[in-house]
Amino acid sequence: MAYNLLKGKKGLIFGALNEQSIAWKVAERAVEEGAEIVLTNTAVSIRMGTIGRLAEKCRTIVVPADATSVADLENLMDRTMEHFGGKFDFMLHSIGMSPNVRKGRTYDDLDYDYLSKTLDISAISFHKAIQVARKKDAINDWGSIVALSYIAAQRTLYGYNDMADAKALLESIARSFGYIYGREKHVRINTVSQSPTQTTAGSGVLGLGDLMSFAENMSPLGNASAEDCADYVLTLFSDLTRKVTMQNLYHDGGFSSMGMSRRAMKTYEKGMRFDDVHQNQYPFGKEETK
Ligand SMILES: NC(=O)c1ccc[n+]([C@@H]2O[C@H](COP(=O)([O-])OP(=O)(O)OC[C@H]3O[C@@H](n4cnc5c(N)ncnc54)[C@H](O)[C@@H]3O)[C@@H](O)[C@H]2O)c1
Repeated sequence: MAYNLLKGKKGLIFGALNEQSIAWKVAERAVEEGAEIVLTNTAVSIRMGTIGRLAEKCRTIVVPADATSVADLENLMDRTMEHFGGKFDFMLHSIGMSPNVRKGRTYDDLDYDYLSKTLDISAISFHKAIQVARKKDAINDWGSIVALSYIAAQRTLYGYNDMADAKALLESIARSFGYIYGREKHVRINTVSQSPTQTTAGSGVLGLGDLMSFAENMSPLGNASAEDCADYVLTLFSDLTRKVTMQNLYHDGGFSSMGMSRRAMKTYEKGMRFDDVHQNQYPFGKEETK
């Protein structure tokens, strides 16, 4: 259902790769709510993914940009303003990638060149995009910037690896830049900490299926889907949230406030009984079962 929440607004959306992408859902919903958008992704992702179809549907352009390259971002902001004929109102950073995760390097055996890339792609690119936008005065007063985060920034979750460090940095950038951009132009900057979601980036997380089922069992409202996430992000782009800034906002069905739920306890009990029966067949060493 559309509410015309973004009527007359214009926005730049990073990170739609395919139909599963959270950014894809945000783009579709933003247009439904009356916004005009410009899409961007890396040249490789544009070739490999299906963003062209989204652009057609949203009647817009796709501008290639590697979000770690300041030169690409400068070109992107210029072309976006050219397309809109002026400044825009919102920006979504929906970008994440860890070469350590991709190459199977565990957190106690990180490759540090890969770690730099993880941080650059998944967090520092957020700083770069905001800095370039601000220097070019690309965003209207009372505009809104959102990036997507995950609770591994606050709590240790097995398998999330160096992406946890990237998310902690991402959330810190939202606070630090939120102060500067807020006091000058009333531009607000927030991160949305989303439930585990089945997407290309999500599939890289070790044991995503188990993590999703654990989070589903723990959350009173169940996991938030990519579509739910898009709805929430739209409210942050709308005029209804003009005084919300520098926040990490949990969008996770209540997961972040839970300690233990009845459903998760039941599953855990069953698992314990299974372990007792199959103790000698357990495939991992003692440490790995923790
Ligand atoms: N899927 C989940 O479980 C989940 C949960 C919480 C937060 N998030 C976050 O949501 C965001 C979107 O991820 P998604 O789950 O929709 O997966 P996705 O794979 O669809 O999106 C990730 C995007 O990052 C883009 N990207 C990678 N390197 C880039 C670069 N150098 N420059 C520009 N773009 C680049 C990819 O092309 C892709 O479009 C990420 O920040 C992710 O960490 C995902």
